Amino acid sequence: MTDDIQARIKRLSKDKDAILLAHNYQPPEIQDVADFCGDSLELSIKAAETDAAVLVFCGVHFMAETASILSPQKTVLLPRPDAGCPMADMVTPEALEARMAGLPGVPVVTYVNSSAAVKALSTICCTSANAAAVVNSLEADEVLMVPDRNLARNTAARTDKKIHLWDGCCPFHDILTPAMVAEARAAHPDALFLAHPECLPEVVAMADAAVSTSGMIRFARESARTSFLVGTEVGMRYPLQKACPDKEFIMVSPGMRCDDMKKITLTDVLNCLETMAGEVKVPEAIRVPALKAVERMIAVTAG
Ligand code: 13P
Ligand code: SF4
Repeated sequence: MTDDIQARIKRLSKDKDAILLAHNYQPPEIQDVADFCGDSLELSIKAAETDAAVLVFCGVHFMAETASILSPQKTVLLPRPDAGCPMADMVTPEALEARMAGLPGVPVVTYVNSSAAVKALSTICCTSANAAAVVNSLEADEVLMVPDRNLARNTAARTDKKIHLWDGCCPFHDILTPAMVAEARAAHPDALFLAHPECLPEVVAMADAAVSTSGMIRFARESARTSFLVGTEVGMRYPLQKACPDKEFIMVSPGMRCDDMKKITLTDVLNCLETMAGEVKVPEAIRVPALKAVERMIAVTAG
């Protein structure tokens, strides 16, 4: 049944000149049918580079919006329009404008996990893969980072600049405590610990590497070690295990499960390709300033 739907999706995406992009947290059957899987930064770059007319984005709403910002001429489809990111909802354009008024001249570094309207007000975007490089690329001595206070505090440890915080976080990464990591380390003394930069700074301080989701795959592949404790969303175990079948990956907390990342099913992907429903299109008045912030980020990463 799964094979049959996957075959139909493949056929239909060829007929419609579509490419399927999937985030590393997506369910296994979605990652298996995707043309490309990756972290937020890689997916943005892929969305900008591909010649396909249609992008089916298997992830959450802000990721599809980023694809629409970068590729307005392409049709961007999100198979489940209700797949959002609770952290992205923790900053609105109105609240950001009010905060900016109190910090005149301070550049705003906005995590890609945010709405297009918030990106449009920002100086530059960042992802978990490039936050320190982005902050350090700016001339200013102080910056405001939104919406993730954990990413901001983790970035503060890697720059001399003063970082003003926004009080948002990923509700799933925020629940991982140093005590949970210590317990996992005691049970698996030979394992290295990989943390996502959305985790608490106290957790990141315990990590052997604090990297993006694709950064975790690269780290595990290149490491001589064979056992890893993983501090991120539980879906990450699948791409890690697929990339390194002979290594062991232990998720430190099974409670780190993002329901929004699990909403899209194969049937949703098939239906959206058949009907072309679920288009995400950012209006030009927002897209143009948001594009500036996203392009500035990509230039830092490329350079
Ligand atoms: P990455 O960019 O590291 O894939 O992270 C995206 C995300 O939503 C983490 O919760
Ligand atoms: Fe957003 Fe957290 Fe889900 Fe990532 S894991 S999409 S940051 S809520």
